[in-house]
Amino acid sequence: MGNEESTMMDDTIAPSVLEARNIEAVAKYIKVYDVKKVVLMVGAGISTSAGIPDFRSPDTGIYANLAFLDLPEPEDVFDIGFFRENPKPFYALAHELYPGRYRPTIVHSFIRLLYEKGMLLKHFTQNIDCLERQAGVPGDKIIEAHGSFASQHCIDCKELYPDEEMHEKVAKSEVPHCHKCNGLIKPDIVFFGEALPSSFFDNRDLPAEADLCIVMGTSLQVQPFASLPSLCSEGVPRVLINKEQVGGLGSRKDDVLLLGDCDAGVLRFARALGWEEELEALWEKTNPDLQSRAEETAPPQTRDERLHDEVERLTEEVDRTLGLTEAYQRKVHEKLESHESPEAHRQSGGLGHVFPHLKLSH
Ligand code: OAD
Repeated sequence: MGNEESTMMDDTIAPSVLEARNIEAVAKYIKVYDVKKVVLMVGAGISTSAGIPDFRSPDTGIYANLAFLDLPEPEDVFDIGFFRENPKPFYALAHELYPGRYRPTIVHSFIRLLYEKGMLLKHFTQNIDCLERQAGVPGDKIIEAHGSFASQHCIDCKELYPDEEMHEKVAKSEVPHCHKCNGLIKPDIVFFGEALPSSFFDNRDLPAEADLCIVMGTSLQVQPFASLPSLCSEGVPRVLINKEQVGGLGSRKDDVLLLGDCDAGVLRFARALGWEEELEALWEKTNPDLQSRAEETAPPQTRDERLHDEVERLTEEVDRTLGLTEAYQRKVHEKLESHESPEAHRQSGGLGHVFPHLKLSH
């Protein structure tokens, strides 16, 4: 749990900076105070709508669904001691979680929008899915507190392992080994029992400088990340957008709780800021099906248009066939004129080398 007392603020106590404890008042605060230093602290809940399960949700979370891996404790899948003994469960899970298969959510695009507005001081994430980067948030704005799948090393000699080979291994759910010492390769994800990256500690003072803190999609169960919101200065509004109340959020006068789905919460926030259209446009850019969708939504052709297209297609086909025939005839003439023997012709590869795309039967 966060290391802050979690007595909820009484409704009768007025906020100190905000006009009210709601998201519309936070939007107003952003405009009036020209907020430029927002820190975000997020977890797996911001990626669930992309199709990646979180860890601790009772039925849908990863820990509740690891029975097929037959682990003593579900958390063991991320335990460095257990990994040394048996890396297979981790690689079975990595196969499911590996980046590249998922589209960023509207929350990831909201973080990008904050960056584009020049308001993002730092984005602290516990997620290993790299979806913030995929949404266009620059790497230097992101602290991947629990590491990521972006690179991988040998756990013994620390040798870097090539990305492409890693993709191949993970795709086949195989365990990669170091080319130098045959040690186990592990993505640079922070396992239980390992230190967080130095970038986390180097930037740990930033929450104290922030003029707004937004916490989303995390149970704040894992330290030291869980203590980040408590490092924000008193009098600085903190917004929690999450399915449930967590940590000490809600215990300060200017804490605002937006409990429920975080995509919906972020949309409401964007609407209050007048950014809804910009946000939707940014999110649309992350849609990999943009092209095919545009084709799908193109208006149906009329009968005349279809006929016209068919005639064009047939004309092209005839032209292409004639072109091939002429080239073929030219080539045969050349061969005949040079008095090449059929045997020499066959040895030179027949016409296959002239028209390599033609499948010639010998
Ligand atoms: P958790 O699974 O512990 O918490 C996710 C939180 O997000 C919960 O409070 C959910 O209720 C909430 N949530 C889920 N879906 C949501 C949605 N669509 N909208 C709003 N809220 C939603 O995940 P983390 O807090 O990220 O460590 O877990 C922290 C660390 O524990 C992880 O980084 C991982 C794990 O062990 C490592 O991998 C090393």
